[in-house]
Amino acid sequence: MGGAPADPLQMKSRINIGVVGLGRMGLEYARFFNSRIAGARLVAVSDIRKEIADAAASELGGVKSYTDYRELVADPNVEAVVVMTPTKLHKEVVVTAAAARKAVFCEKPISLGLEDATAMKSAVDSSGAFFQLGFMRRFDPGYAMAKRKVSEGAIGTPCVFKSSSRDKVRPSLDYLRPENSGGLFIDMGIHDFDLARWFFGEVKSVFSVGGVLAYPEMRDIGDPDNSLTNLTFSDGRIGMVSLSRNGVFGYSIQTEIVGTEGTLMVGRERETPLLVMTKDTIAHDTVPGFYERFEASYVIQLQNFVDNVNRGRRPAITCDDGIAAQKIALAATRSWKEGRVVEL
Ligand SMILES: NC(=O)c1ccc[n+]([C@@H]2O[C@H](COP(=O)([O-])OP(=O)(O)OC[C@H]3O[C@@H](n4cnc5c(N)ncnc54)[C@H](O)[C@@H]3O)[C@@H](O)[C@H]2O)c1
Repeated sequence: MGGAPADPLQMKSRINIGVVGLGRMGLEYARFFNSRIAGARLVAVSDIRKEIADAAASELGGVKSYTDYRELVADPNVEAVVVMTPTKLHKEVVVTAAAARKAVFCEKPISLGLEDATAMKSAVDSSGAFFQLGFMRRFDPGYAMAKRKVSEGAIGTPCVFKSSSRDKVRPSLDYLRPENSGGLFIDMGIHDFDLARWFFGEVKSVFSVGGVLAYPEMRDIGDPDNSLTNLTFSDGRIGMVSLSRNGVFGYSIQTEIVGTEGTLMVGRERETPLLVMTKDTIAHDTVPGFYERFEASYVIQLQNFVDNVNRGRRPAITCDDGIAAQKIALAATRSWKEGRVVEL
């Protein structure tokens, strides 16, 4: 369920946050809570790497450091738990935090498989704990504006959804293994599949093709480095998601919504607002990575989580949203493996 509206008398002005997992994203989130999110106070951090947790606690001042996340969850001062561990550990942390009736924010994807996601949903439902999932693209000013334009009818009736995600270069082989990240369709495609649902509603069937086309060293991993997935929505509209580990020119996220009266294109390929114009060329820089592209969206997303908890509002993105996007990603993976259309 993920949190019914609270009694107005119980509305809070500030919530105490504990962040679990201080890797690429978790440390940045801890810093955001420490300085950029109103109505939140970072009180604890946890990482199995003690030196990382201690360094963060010392940088962030007055924050408790734990190596065992269960101690952070049990800390009576912690009111909300932000889950930033590797995806395969989301379930155990979320289930523990929900059982302790702490509010929970969990990064995408909800989990690697449906079994874990379903267990998370039942833990959240049975405890009544507030739960919000991270799909930061929904908070990106470009995507949020596109959503408004669609609802205002600016492009008539949307009929085709096209979305493309590209890493600049591949992550480590260890990260790429499906048993660690979930593979291309789960780890990377999940954002595009969530957007597909957000803009067009439920997906009826998928058909994926893909291959190891850029990085021969990925052949033993059992996951493609490039893929195309055709989507058919329940109402007959169509879409396509293109995923690539070899953007090369930069980190590139593009979405096109083709409507009966116009088209919306979301995305940018430039980091600095500078064009260098010379005799034969107009040049600009490129977007280095997800952090640079979505820094503002991460902050807006966390502010939304805190505001929803403090004001007793419903979560913006639920377990069900995470499970629905996961089902599309799992079907896309199966379609690629089996070379056939997969119905959801
Ligand atoms: N929305 C986005 O754009 C985006 C981008 C990157 C990652 N993510 C998601 O964020 C999550 C974290 O990804 P990351 O890239 O920061 O991972 P990471 O591997 O860099 O960091 C994970 C951290 O968790 C710690 N950890 C492992 N087990 C733990 C435990 N039991 N208790 C406490 N800490 C533990 C590790 O030591 C590490 O510091 C993943 O779910 C990933 O999918 C989202």
